[in-house]
Amino acid sequence: MAEIGQDIERAKKLLESGHLVAIPTETVYGLAGNALNPDAVAKIFQTKKRPTFDPLIVHTDELSKVHQFVKEVPEQLKVLADKFWPGPLTLLLKRKSLVPDLVTSGLETVAVRIPKHPLTKALLASLDFPLAAPSANPFGYISPTQASHVNAQLGYQIPYILDGGPCEVGLESTIVGLENGQVTVYRLGGLDIQEIEEVVGDVQVMAHSSSNPKSPGMLKSHYAPSKPFVLGDVEILSAAYSRRGDRFAVLTFTKVLPNVPAELQRQLSRSGDPAEAAKKLFAAMRALDTLDVSVILSELLPDKGLGRAINDRLKRAAAN
Ligand code: TXA
Ligand code: MG
Repeated sequence: MAEIGQDIERAKKLLESGHLVAIPTETVYGLAGNALNPDAVAKIFQTKKRPTFDPLIVHTDELSKVHQFVKEVPEQLKVLADKFWPGPLTLLLKRKSLVPDLVTSGLETVAVRIPKHPLTKALLASLDFPLAAPSANPFGYISPTQASHVNAQLGYQIPYILDGGPCEVGLESTIVGLENGQVTVYRLGGLDIQEIEEVVGDVQVMAHSSSNPKSPGMLKSHYAPSKPFVLGDVEILSAAYSRRGDRFAVLTFTKVLPNVPAELQRQLSRSGDPAEAAKKLFAAMRALDTLDVSVILSELLPDKGLGRAINDRLKRAAAN
């Protein structure tokens, strides 16, 4: 298993010698390596069993450093960077040739983010290269929001996990770029689209599809637990599964189901707060996935604000 701690110096040394380190961010934990070292980047793909057509996000701690590896930050995206970095926003920017092809899967754009978590900010400030970091989970599985999640699945393959506690936001970053000059959202995430629209006006949302080469990581079957995950009216579904004698677990927004044992159900936010639900979502999915049940039943949230991003993840979990 990996060593877990808060030793930034140790993380720095490992990264400088080409090793991978799991890092906390406010969205989810990342599996980080030197973004400018093709061998370290190759290790990321191997460790996650991630197909190389799915490009990585490059993390740094300052806008001035971003200019070292991107050609330009167009004005429409610059205003978003100014407003939301550090934070749960990723921008697609034209890359310089310094960025290895493997990082971008050969695309002309590179995904860039300045994360907010203080440990990772300090780590990034101490490095003289940016970090490529996908979510620190095996390809296709639920993203990790605690150090223990990373250790459970990738711990035997990496030397160190920088432990920053549970992630504050809990959903991956919102990915934004320009499509024919128009601000476009490629992945719904921890930054609410309404906040983006307050800055740049209406944006278009690219519907995800498995054939969209622009955002290959948007494959429908992402973020999936290993148990079947069924979406619908949880009261009707649980009654039907009970009649059949199936053992099931239930994930709801606020509801408590009186006929289901407490240990087999999770509420994302008793008070109906989508931000709290986002923060708890992936840990709840993981917890239910480890129970002795044959299926997980879940409902969608009201489809607005962060609820929309949460619903996106729930639908993908159910798409398997
Ligand atoms: O919050 C996050 O974004 C976390 C933390 C660790 O920063 N990272 C994360 O990385 O979620 P990952 O690899 O799980 O998701 C990155 C997504 C993928 O869906 C990928 O397809 C997309 O970013 N992506 C990366 N580069 C891209 C590009 N040049 N064009 C379009 N999509 C890109
Ligand atoms: Mg991921």
